[in-house]
Amino acid sequence: MKRVITYGTFDLLHYGHIYLLKRARELGDHLIVGLSTDEFNSVEKGKKSYFTYEERRELLMGVRYVDQIIPETCWKQKREDVRRYHCDVFVMGDDWQGKFDYLKDEGVEVIYLPRTPEISTTMIKEELTEL
Ligand code: CTP
Repeated sequence: MKRVITYGTFDLLHYGHIYLLKRARELGDHLIVGLSTDEFNSVEKGKKSYFTYEERRELLMGVRYVDQIIPETCWKQKREDVRRYHCDVFVMGDDWQGKFDYLKDEGVEVIYLPRTPEISTTMIKEELTEL
């Protein structure tokens, strides 16, 4: 079984997220999502999500491409995660291009997928405030 892992906040789940998850899942047989916790978001990423971790988790659990969800609580857990969950492929959108190449040391394939243009959580928030 080929195991794929990806990470993110996935707030206000949108079609850019879904398409990322679809392509990630197609790279293997089992997709794990490291979902950023609220504390990790505020302390490390400097952003506050609209939906809480539990709400974002519920939404992701409803996505057919997602097999497993684990909490992302710090930047450096990825190396440990790919070992613990026996991952074969590590996937992120290409806004992270090159940032996680060090994981290749763990024998994992590191792939950056093109982002879907013209959609992001930030953009949704900004456009809604203009209504
Ligand atoms: N993603 C994507 N296409 C988009 C938006 C996001 O492929 N249009 C991918 C990101 O590259 C990442 C994953 O979805 O691998 C989760 O991204 P996240 O940062 O949670 O979503 P964004 O919409 O980019 O949120 P924000 O605007 O807060 O950065």
